[in-house]
Amino acid sequence: MTDVTRNWEEFNSTEVSAKIPFFTKDGRLYDCLFAQQFDRALLDRLFTLANKLRATAQTKEGADFLLSLLSHKRAMLYFVQPSTRTFLSFQNACHLLGLKTSEIRDTNTSSEIKGESPEDSVRTFSSYVDLIIMRHPVPGFVEKTAWVMNRAKRPVPVISGGSGKDQHPTQALLDVYTLDSQLEGGVDGKTIVMVGDLKRGRTVRSLSYLMKNYKRVKLYFVSPPQLRMEKDILTFLSKHTIPYRETDDLGSVMREADAIYMTRIQDEHDVAGESRKVDYSKFQFRAEHLAVIKKTCIIMHPLPRREEIEVEVDEDDRAVYWRQERNGMWVRAALIAHLFSVEDEILGRK
Ligand code: CP
Repeated sequence: MTDVTRNWEEFNSTEVSAKIPFFTKDGRLYDCLFAQQFDRALLDRLFTLANKLRATAQTKEGADFLLSLLSHKRAMLYFVQPSTRTFLSFQNACHLLGLKTSEIRDTNTSSEIKGESPEDSVRTFSSYVDLIIMRHPVPGFVEKTAWVMNRAKRPVPVISGGSGKDQHPTQALLDVYTLDSQLEGGVDGKTIVMVGDLKRGRTVRSLSYLMKNYKRVKLYFVSPPQLRMEKDILTFLSKHTIPYRETDDLGSVMREADAIYMTRIQDEHDVAGESRKVDYSKFQFRAEHLAVIKKTCIIMHPLPRREEIEVEVDEDDRAVYWRQERNGMWVRAALIAHLFSVEDEILGRK
């Protein structure tokens, strides 16, 4: 591994499973880039931590305790692709733990406009901060940043808030945290239906990877034929003997679902307006579907939505997407606490 890590192209071409040790330090997650970095023990620990953070922050005394934990640290939020909830939940997660934050949200306002390379830009952040959280449109760029930062004289951990159309690992964390807390008995043994643009939806890709940590899970992938789940995910699921079925008929599978995970069409990844040719009307959850699904079936969405879920559905107790987005702040705070090794202080507090 040591030779491969010297050269980015060589490192980049290796299997994710072989790369993971490079993003781990002292047996602990150092950078968060891939959903494959999480095992069941770590997921359960992060969810316990998120619950404890949520409870602790209820009182001023508890909130002040949390604020003191990382008041000596600073974080950079480099989000040069649009974001509302990932940006805000990370920013507020940092503030909950006392980290000060700086931000760049547009390369037109950074020295990249003067010709500085993105690589030099991120290297500059490491001069000032202790953590880089970033969203970038270029696939693999967040990983490359982590690779650069791990080799720097002053290494700084990197968390991905979404990288190209490949992965969105912390969205998958909050999704599984939501599934785990909202479904009776947790995720094991459940049937999860993912709907929409599965080809380019990085949230469903990361969520599929996390399913390897749960027992007897069954997946349905419901999408237009042009936007089916990519082969790499299907191969991964087969390798981990996770049963899945692909269909374009939501009606045929919704009765069986314990969770329905809706997604919007990801037309920001269009090259020549190809999404305009897709009939997305069959991939919507409408108010009339509430009478069809199980009484215990939850409806999720990473948000933002367009027409995939009718607004009337929001009133139903099974619609958990607003809770899901709020969960993002707690689970991201738990992740940051884990990266900075303060989780025992939080979990041990009476
Ligand atoms: N789910 C999600 O990533 O939302 P934002 O694009 O608003 O961050």
